[in-house]
Amino acid sequence: PISASQWLNTVQKEELKEIIRYFFEDASEEEREALYSCAKKLREIHYGKKVYFRGLIEFSSYCKNDCYYCGIRKSNAQARRYRLSEEEILACCQKGYELGFRTFVLQSGEDPYFTDEKLCSIIREIKRQFADCAVTISVGERGRESYEQIFQAGADRFLLRHETADENHYGKLHPSELTFSHRKECLMQLKEIGFQVGAGFMVESPYQTYGTLAEDFLFLRELNPHMIGVGPFIPHKDTDFAGYPAPSSEKTVILLALIRIMLPKTLIPATTALGTVDDQGREKALKAGANVVMPNLSPIEHRKDYALYDNKICTGEEAAECLFCLSNRIRSAGYIPDFSRGDYIDMQDSR
Ligand code: SAM
Ligand code: FES
Repeated sequence: PISASQWLNTVQKEELKEIIRYFFEDASEEEREALYSCAKKLREIHYGKKVYFRGLIEFSSYCKNDCYYCGIRKSNAQARRYRLSEEEILACCQKGYELGFRTFVLQSGEDPYFTDEKLCSIIREIKRQFADCAVTISVGERGRESYEQIFQAGADRFLLRHETADENHYGKLHPSELTFSHRKECLMQLKEIGFQVGAGFMVESPYQTYGTLAEDFLFLRELNPHMIGVGPFIPHKDTDFAGYPAPSSEKTVILLALIRIMLPKTLIPATTALGTVDDQGREKALKAGANVVMPNLSPIEHRKDYALYDNKICTGEEAAECLFCLSNRIRSAGYIPDFSRGDYIDMQDSR
């Protein structure tokens, strides 16, 4: 596995395209199993059989952006919008803390209502009340000063998927004011500031090709992020991409395994989107190198309104139900639910 890892770190674009194409189109069942088993070994070298739990709090469905794929894009007049107050967010954390969570992920659309001041006050309060917890922020693109303030307020990690590392493809998924070069700049800044940083992309998004996927791999190699979120693109009925087919889980699982082999220390979630396209999707991801799950702690009355895509699972379950269900699934798959902060391996014990 280690030499496979070294090799994947040296191959260039054309070879990457061919490797991905081969596993998608030509590889036998045995060859795919060998890929997953290699990924699994590498994950176990660094993280054993632990699967880290993060409590996801979707705190605002308002968004000023208009990404063509996303159900909460601003031009979707059908989307129901909500915002949680600071008290409601803290109540979600309290509930999560009692259930055992020691990482909270605060995610929202790009909502200008949450100024740096408001966001930082929430982060400070979470860190004051739950000092042994890590806080991850996922609020999209902001300026360097904002990111610095968010870090100073105590946030540990920042998730900002790069979506696609091909500028032309980026332009087919987003309006022209959003560019890959700016997204890259944000990710570089976040890393410099000292966050554990998460990048990532959707699988089978419209206009994705072997070429754009190879660019994603090259970019991930360059950025070397602490976390990589890769899940299937799932169409949303009120977006430009309605009518695209929802993919199967297969390609996502192959890419997760390849990414684990290329960047063995990365934290990789088995995403809710993967569980949506395939009931066994999250288990398949764990068996191919994923080592994180992010069950939802958002208030149940708002869950359905944070609809990035159609048919999202776990929108009717209480946090405790999802926790119970996921823990059982993880144990049945042969892994160990872990409720520690779950930092990147080289950063454990650093705070
Ligand atoms: N606004 C923040 C941002 O852009 O980073 C965080 C929220 S955004 C909705 C979170 C992620 O959802 C995006 O990075 C995107 O990859 C994913 N997403 C959006 N629409 C999706 C869809 N239709 N299918 C699958 N994933 C989707
Ligand atoms: Fe939510 Fe299974 S993880 S119901």
